[in-house]
This record gives sequence, structure tokens and C-alpha cells, in this order.
Amino acid sequence: MRIKKDNSMSIEQSKDNNLERDVSQEQKMGSDQEYETYSEQETFELGYEFAKGLKPGDSISLEGDLGTGKTAFTKGIAAGLGVTQHITSPTFTLVNTYNGEKILHHFDVYRVNDPDELFAIGWEEYFSYEAVTVVEWGDLVPDILPENTIHIRFSRLDGSSYEGRRIIIER
Ligand SMILES: Nc1ncnc2c1ncn2[C@@H]1O[C@H](COP(=O)(O)OP(=O)(O)OP(=O)(O)O)[C@@H](O)[C@H]1O
Ligand SMILES: [Mg+2]
Repeated sequence: MRIKKDNSMSIEQSKDNNLERDVSQEQKMGSDQEYETYSEQETFELGYEFAKGLKPGDSISLEGDLGTGKTAFTKGIAAGLGVTQHITSPTFTLVNTYNGEKILHHFDVYRVNDPDELFAIGWEEYFSYEAVTVVEWGDLVPDILPENTIHIRFSRLDGSSYEGRRIIIER
């Protein structure tokens, strides 16, 4: 995995550091962290490390084209939160909830036509202080995401590597 900006940590570094402290420093700086991954496994591992800095009440919007790794990253987050259940894409159910060491709500709003569909299933209650909430395709419903949402943008890398992905964590 390649780190594109100096203010980003490598996975190895973040394993050694107190990620929570580093994350809060990043937040103060308002800086983006940019990564490149070259396999689904690397994207999973990035999600895993990212999850260590999460606390209940955090909300994360995953944004980017079909097949760019949003679900792979979410699987890493889930593992990082101590979820041992198998993670499946909630494309039709809209949301799945997992109980690990922390509670994880996993939305996929790709098929949502109207935000009212989300309010009908209790959208706001999923963003409680008790749980971490991940929303795939959150950019389709920007107006109803909590203000403190962390946005993560996924895209394909141009060039030779079919498996290359750019992942930018915006705080
Ligand atoms: N660097 C990479 N990171 C993540 N996935 C990769 C990578 N390279 C190739 N892949 C492949 O791309 C696909 C990513 O699928 P995934 O379901 O995670 O995407 P997604 O962004 O959630 O798509 P969707 O918008 O349909 O929900 C998988 O088939 C995976 O094997
Ligand atoms: Mg997905």
C-alpha cells in the first residue's frame, strides 16, 4: 500500500502508534489522508486500521463508483470493531446491524430513491451515541448525513494496475 501524503500514516506505523491520539490530531488539522491500495486485502486492512480510531457515535460515508472497494473497506472496519459475523452488502435490506465489541450499522443507500425511505426505517436512530454507522453511497443522501460524518472517497487508479484504488479519508 502506498501513502500519498506525508500526513498519512502507513498501516505499520499506525499499528505502533496510538491511533486515537493521531486521529484527533488529524481532525484538528482538518487534513485529508490519501492512500493507494493494490488488492481487496489491502483495502480490508486499511479499513481495519481505520476502525481502531473510531468510537461509538461516529458516522462514515463511503463514496465512489461501483466496485471501488466500499464493501471491502467496511468488512475491514467490522473486523476492526470486533465483529466476527460474515458481512454482506445490505443493498436490498438497506441496513445490517452487527454486534462486535462495538455495534456497527452498515447502510447501502444505492437503491434509495427518496430519503423518506430511510426515515421510514428509523434512519436517525441509527446515528446514536451507541454505534458506529457506515453508509455506502452516502454522497447520494448528503443532506441527511450527520454533520460530523467522515467522508471517504474511493476511485480506480489510472494506469496499468487493474486492482489499484485511491482512497481518501476526509475529515
Ligand atoms: N484495491 C482493491 N480494493 C478493493 N477491492 C478491489 C481492489 N482491487 C480489486 N478489487 C475488487 O473490486 C471489487 C470491490 O468490490 P466491493 O463490493 O468492495 O465494491 P463496492 O465499492 O462496495 O461496490 P458497490 O458500489 O457495488 O457496493 C471486488 O471484486 C474486489 O475483489
Ligand atoms: Mg458495496
